[in-house]
Amino acid sequence: MFLLINLLFVYLIVRHVNTDAARGMKCYFSAKCRCFSFLPTPYYNAVCSHSLLNYIPVFKDNIHSIDLSYNRIEKIQNRHFSYNCNLKELNLSHNKIKTLSKYSFHGLRKLSKLIVSQNEIDSVETNTFSYLQSLTYLDAKQTKINVSTLQSLPFLKTLRMDFILNGSDSLSFRLLQLKHLDLSGTSGRCDARTLTVDVFKFIPNIEELNLSACKINWIYKGTFRFMKNLSILDLSYNPCLKFSVAENVTHDLIYTSIKILKANKIHKTFEMNTMIRRSHLRNLKKTNLTELQINSNRIQKIQKGALLYLPSSLRTISMSDNEFSYGDYLSDIMVVPAEHVNISELFKSHIPLINEEQCDYRNESNCEEEKVEKHISSSSAILVPLPYRLKSLVYRKCLIRYEIPPINLAANKIEYLDFYQNMFYSLIGPLCPLNHVTYLDLSDNMCSNVSKVFFQCTPNLQILRLQNNLLGFVLPDDVNGEVLQHVPQLKEINLSENRIPTLPYHFFKSQFLVRRLYLDGNLLDYLIFKIDHMKDLNFLGLSNNRFSYLNKTARDQLETVFMNNKNLSIDISGNPLKCTCDTKDFIQWMGNTKIQFNKLHLYTCRLSTDKKQNLNNPKRLYEDLQKECASYTSLIIGLISLVVLFVSIVTLGLVYRHRWRIRYMYYMVKIRYFETKQKTNEKNIYTYDAFVSYENNDRSFVHGQLLRKLENDAGLKLCIHQRDFLPGRDIAENITSAIHDSRKIVVIMSPNYLDSYWCMFEYNMARVESIYSRNKENILFLVFLQQMLPRSLPLLVLELVQSQSYIEYPNDEYGDTVFWEKLKEVLA
Ligand SMILES: *[C@@H]1O[C@H](CO)[C@@H](O)[C@H](O)[C@H]1NC(C)=O
Ligand SMILES: *[C@@H]1O[C@H](CO)[C@@H](O)[C@H](O)[C@H]1NC(C)=O
Ligand SMILES: *[C@@H]1O[C@H](CO)[C@@H](O)[C@H](O)[C@H]1NC(C)=O
Ligand SMILES: *[C@@H]1O[C@H](CO)[C@@H](O)[C@H](O)[C@H]1NC(C)=O
Ligand SMILES: *[C@@H]1O[C@H](CO)[C@@H](O)[C@H](O)[C@H]1NC(C)=O
Ligand SMILES: *[C@@H]1O[C@H](CO)[C@@H](O)[C@H](O)[C@H]1NC(C)=O
Ligand SMILES: *[C@@H]1O[C@H](CO)[C@@H](O)[C@H](O)[C@H]1NC(C)=O
Ligand SMILES: *[C@@H]1O[C@H](CO)[C@@H](O)[C@H](O)[C@H]1NC(C)=O
Ligand SMILES: *[C@@H]1O[C@H](CO)[C@@H](O)[C@H](O)[C@H]1NC(C)=O
Ligand SMILES: *[C@@H]1O[C@H](CO)[C@@H](O)[C@H](O)[C@H]1NC(C)=O
Ligand SMILES: *[C@@H]1O[C@H](CO)[C@@H](O)[C@H](O)[C@H]1NC(C)=O
Ligand SMILES: *[C@@H]1O[C@H](CO)[C@@H](O)[C@H](O)[C@H]1NC(C)=O
Repeated sequence: MFLLINLLFVYLIVRHVNTDAARGMKCYFSAKCRCFSFLPTPYYNAVCSHSLLNYIPVFKDNIHSIDLSYNRIEKIQNRHFSYNCNLKELNLSHNKIKTLSKYSFHGLRKLSKLIVSQNEIDSVETNTFSYLQSLTYLDAKQTKINVSTLQSLPFLKTLRMDFILNGSDSLSFRLLQLKHLDLSGTSGRCDARTLTVDVFKFIPNIEELNLSACKINWIYKGTFRFMKNLSILDLSYNPCLKFSVAENVTHDLIYTSIKILKANKIHKTFEMNTMIRRSHLRNLKKTNLTELQINSNRIQKIQKGALLYLPSSLRTISMSDNEFSYGDYLSDIMVVPAEHVNISELFKSHIPLINEEQCDYRNESNCEEEKVEKHISSSSAILVPLPYRLKSLVYRKCLIRYEIPPINLAANKIEYLDFYQNMFYSLIGPLCPLNHVTYLDLSDNMCSNVSKVFFQCTPNLQILRLQNNLLGFVLPDDVNGEVLQHVPQLKEINLSENRIPTLPYHFFKSQFLVRRLYLDGNLLDYLIFKIDHMKDLNFLGLSNNRFSYLNKTARDQLETVFMNNKNLSIDISGNPLKCTCDTKDFIQWMGNTKIQFNKLHLYTCRLSTDKKQNLNNPKRLYEDLQKECASYTSLIIGLISLVVLFVSIVTLGLVYRHRWRIRYMYYMVKIRYFETKQKTNEKNIYTYDAFVSYENNDRSFVHGQLLRKLENDAGLKLCIHQRDFLPGRDIAENITSAIHDSRKIVVIMSPNYLDSYWCMFEYNMARVESIYSRNKENILFLVFLQQMLPRSLPLLVLELVQSQSYIEYPNDEYGDTVFWEKLKEVLA
């Protein structure tokens, strides 16, 4: 029992400590707040945001900061914070506070940061802020706090508030320390139609002034002139300003320390295009400006010579979302001192705003036609001018459909080229020289062709992004690895999403230094291309292709790479991997290899049953497979041997059954072949009336009686092997030929006959002849020289006996006569 309580106690402590570290303690003054203490000091911070509080809790004096944002507080009691003299930060944003009275912030002597933005304050007593003598940061955006109430804040450095300027009002308070003034209408309310010399006269030490989205129409000369330390000026999103105000602004900037000037969208989206004139930029020459932003201004042209006024300190120009067209200012580009240029989103399409602000009327001439002499060179290579110090060029999302032809560039030090999401559908090139380029992004370009010389002039390229194109149309034909042969320094290649069905063996042959190779989302099914020379490869992305496995060659390549670089990891997730008996070596490899598989928990494969199986434990899966495949293999072997056996039996049977026919055919063909050569046409089809088939022991009968009776007496022509066979010819051929050339075949049957191989050969050939050549006409005639028992006769002979085609030799005088007559009759 004691032990149990003890354990519980320990558990509670541990739990408590854990929650402390992560989310702070519950505060003693309110269950809705979390307190974070700074041991060993007695101070702590309290976070009470998003707690549905509708009052401010009472804090002790050891509190440092309080976040009360996103609650429903409506009121700050007078002297509520009187004892919180150590409070440094108070965040009251997003509440429902309505009034601020003289004593609201009483006692907050050390408060340095106060945020009261997003409240409904509509009355502020004078001297409300007078207790806040240490305040350096005040955010009062989206309240109705008037500028006139902020008189006495001597240390304020940062002020963010709404700014509603009526007529010739001005910021009527003196804030000598103020460095950052954010009046932007994007995060608050700002309406300042006209800025005159008086408006900012009490903030001479300002460094950063944010006047974006302030509905400004007019800026008088002298407005910024006395701000000696002004270094950042943001005039963006004042679409009624136009470039005609530039002269007034830049005139003042000469006297400031301006570094960054933002003038994005100082022109309406659907107005006429504009032109930058010399007068707009003339004064900038005398400043130390480093960054200029003039995005979204419908700039179409730049007056010749205007760019010459950009100061030599300029490093960054951003001119995205404009409408540049060809003009003679192009030659000025060479003298632009910028290192970083962003001209993305040219010709971007826009959606009309519903409530665009109304501008004061201004007599402004827009882009008028200037006389432009076009000098389009007639040589095949186009000469493109570039800023002489250019290091990085960002040219993204421009709606220009374009084949990149051979281009000659001015000498340059460009290192970074970003052409993401254009429509460079065919990369022919080369673009020369680009010796310093290390980064090239041509992704998302619908590009379906890249020539073998395109990379010729970028020998130092290290990162190549070509993803989301259609290079699968051409890369499979690059059998000799010529496309990438000029870029041996490549460290990272992204060819994902290119519909590549296969890459030839030598495709990456020059890339010895590649570290990261991305081929995800293609149509690859075999890893054929050589990678085992990439000694530093530590990532190979093959996800979402069509691999069903990696075969031995591929695995060996990966192992070779791994030998050199133990950090190698590959990603083959999202492939239709198979876990069947055919691929079990692959699964085994997955289980054994030390190569890392990225996102292994996402791998699945299909079993032979077509079921999906998680592949996060390849070792176990391999064991299962092995069992399954062992029985499978023996089953297959058994089945196959059965089938083979069956087929051979059937074949043998058929051959045996038709053996005579086959032999007959064979000899017939052979004979015919010779006969057609030798014989001329003969009138009589049969050379002999009969072929006499007999065994040598019976020759006395044949030579003595048979020949005499039939040939001499009856005039029949007989074929006798000892007499008529052609010498030198194969005996089997002689037999077949004799049978074929005789009308009838007389078999002199005797036990000797049945025992003789050649006699039985003759007998069988004759049978086949009768069946296949003579249309089953019976041409065989048996003569039994002696009585033979039916049981001693083979089946084949019995068959003939049954059909009555036989005769017995009687061997007595009367019988003989009948016998010979009958024989003559049969043979005639
Ligand atoms: C004040 O509260 C808001 C809302 O929680 C928060 O976004 C902001 O960062 C806080 N400001 C400071 C200075 O803590
Ligand atoms: C702001 O000043 C105007 C007069 O300029 C006054 O009418 C209005 O009440 C003031 N608002 C607050 C919150 O003090
Ligand atoms: C601006 O000032 C004029 C008088 O100078 C006044 O009639 C008008 O109501 C003021 N507008 C606002 C929005 O305060
Ligand atoms: C000016 O304020 C807007 C809105 O808060 C902000 O987006 C912009 O970045 C600011 N400009 C500068 C130069 O900080
Ligand atoms: C303004 O800048 C100058 C140097 O450029 C510096 O001496 C001066 O203290 C700055 N003023 C303020 C108020 O910081
Ligand atoms: C430029 O300043 C002058 C006064 O110095 C003013 O009359 C003119 O309207 C200003 N131009 C613009 C476009 O604000
Ligand atoms: C620009 O910088 C140079 C030296 O860095 C300085 O002498 C010059 O006064 C500066 N010009 C302006 C307008 O601040
Ligand atoms: C270039 O400009 C585009 C459009 O304004 C912007 O989205 C992109 O972030 C800029 N890129 C750089 C590197 O400045
Ligand atoms: C507008 O300015 C042009 C000269 O830039 C002038 O000829 C024309 O009269 C002006 N129109 C108006 C209405 O002021
Ligand atoms: C690719 O460009 C080459 C020119 O370098 C051209 O000969 C070839 O026909 C083009 N191929 C395709 C598929 O357009
Ligand atoms: C490579 O391209 C793919 C497809 O667009 C993309 O998801 C991936 O982030 C790219 N990888 C790198 C390192 O840029
Ligand atoms: C692996 O697949 C490739 C492509 O089909 C083939 O050329 C290679 O011979 C295969 N390797 C093995 C060991 O089967």
